[in-house]
Amino acid sequence: MAVSEIRTVGVVGLGAMGAGIAQLATEAGYETIGREVTAELGQQARGRIAHFLQRKVDKERMSAPAREAALARLSLTTELTDLADCDLVIEAIVEDLDAKRALFAELEGIVRPNAILATNTSALSVTEIAAAVELPARAVGMHFFNPAPLMPLVEIVRAELSSDDAVDTAYAVGERLGKRPIRCHDTPGFVVNRVLIPLLNDCLRVLDEARVSPEDLDTAMTAGAGWPMGPCTLVDLVGIDVHVHASEALYEKLREPRMAPPPRIVAMKNAGLLGRKGGRGFYVYE
Ligand code: 3HC
Repeated sequence: MAVSEIRTVGVVGLGAMGAGIAQLATEAGYETIGREVTAELGQQARGRIAHFLQRKVDKERMSAPAREAALARLSLTTELTDLADCDLVIEAIVEDLDAKRALFAELEGIVRPNAILATNTSALSVTEIAAAVELPARAVGMHFFNPAPLMPLVEIVRAELSSDDAVDTAYAVGERLGKRPIRCHDTPGFVVNRVLIPLLNDCLRVLDEARVSPEDLDTAMTAGAGWPMGPCTLVDLVGIDVHVHASEALYEKLREPRMAPPPRIVAMKNAGLLGRKGGRGFYVYE
């Protein structure tokens, strides 16, 4: 399917990542259908998108009519069957291999044979997800970064059986979403997380080794290494559960000790400290 044929984009899962991706799609002019498990969660995502688009209007980066038009292109559903006319579906559900495989298999029975199925997985194998469908050539990874509307990168991940057409179309959609896409193959952590996850884990180990506070560690890395935000703020933004899961998934695949989540962050996850989205992680949020 050529990029010119992509008119309707489905996004399954409207959490922080999915809502951000849906925002990008509707801003780029695609008819966008967002699917959440309950209508309330869908409305929360719409509210979040409406808020961020309003901030763009306030800052004169978007006109008020363009905001209205973008919101009008976004429809919400709780039914996967409403994605039947989507040319591209991007999933951003829970990072669970079985759940993603089951979703892809179900979607394949709903969408047209030439529709592309993309996963936003951070650390699972795109090939293993794609293996759940009968036409794995149509499956690719489109890995966005948090916050999706602000971070320029999208990794376009080629699974073992992805077709050139699916990869090229996903790349072109990434460009139309205003991103800077890169191409890579399906290896654990792709490009960024292969580097960033062990780096963040090193940072978290330094908390205990150097007995530095989270605030001072963040100051160290922003003021001393030029990071846009410190590692504790970043892990809070990503989500402590997401970071632990990505670390465990990479450790399982690569067996490199630096990939393993430090006990301190696992304890935080087990205590229900999930970072910014839960109101508390290394820091407390309003
Ligand atoms: N969605 C949409 N818009 C958002 C947003 C969101 N989630 N969050 C903020 N904005 C908008 C707001 O409108 C905000 O303006 P406002 O405060 O006036 O309303 C505007 O963006 C700018 O926000 P900031 O002033 O906070 O912007 P900064 O200049 O400070 O930059 C940043 C913010 C781009 C997040 C920057 O701090 C940064 O680059 N941080 C690093 C983030 C990073 O590394 N992300 C990758 C994480 S790893 C990952 O995602 C992989 C995964 O697989 C785990």
